Amino acid sequence: MARRKYVVGNWKMNGLTGAIGEAQAIFAAAADHDGVDVAICPPFTLIGAMVAAAPGSAVGGQDCHNAASGAFTGSVAAPMLVDAGASLVIVGHSERREGYSESDVDVRAKAQAALGAGLSVILCVGEPRAVREAGGAIEYVLAQVAGSVPDDFDAARLAIAYEPIWAIGTGLVPTVGDVEAMHGAIRAALAGRFGAAAGEMRILYGGSVNGDNAAELLGAGDVDGALVGGASLTAAKFVPIVAAAAGL
Ligand code: PGA
Repeated sequence: MARRKYVVGNWKMNGLTGAIGEAQAIFAAAADHDGVDVAICPPFTLIGAMVAAAPGSAVGGQDCHNAASGAFTGSVAAPMLVDAGASLVIVGHSERREGYSESDVDVRAKAQAALGAGLSVILCVGEPRAVREAGGAIEYVLAQVAGSVPDDFDAARLAIAYEPIWAIGTGLVPTVGDVEAMHGAIRAALAGRFGAAAGEMRILYGGSVNGDNAAELLGAGDVDGALVGGASLTAAKFVPIVAAAAGL
């Protein structure tokens, strides 16, 4: 089964109510590009308003707790995201793994909770610069995949996002050869574990994707789309990435 391209905006801790118009413009433009799935993950506070402003569009959270409810001050549970109208969630972003000490075990539990609540999941992995420079990037990332991808799920609902930490927000990107080597290794590891179902799992690239480099990065072997931070905040910057994905 051919995998549809998937372009996802991660707004991180950016966006007040006034930014909803950008999301509407992005989703309106995305509707002109048939072959691409487009989603936006705004801050929790904007999910409901974004869904209301763009009914039927894919809106997601940037994290969730692994419990369905309880005494976890400040956290948001997967069923709450569903309740707010979200259809997906990012888990294991490096800003969560590093800033909030989330382990592979934590990320796996979050992914499991999200899938159990009916959400699609974008599960992030990626190596720090020192690991890349020491030649250990593939081994490091495959260990994250092994430790954080759950065992039993509907393959079409789980995407992996490979995001080298040193490429996030820096303007630096790996070579296409390095991206292909990593994505190929992730695909092979998933196939070894899940068999034919691995063919349905999308593997996104993330880290300094923009309108100028999107066609090259998204055209690389085994790259099924992009997770985009900074360039997803405005339609002017994000729509060209969607268009590049549609043109492949
Ligand atoms: P960036 O962020 O596109 O701003 O590099 C990507 C991400 O962190 O998901």
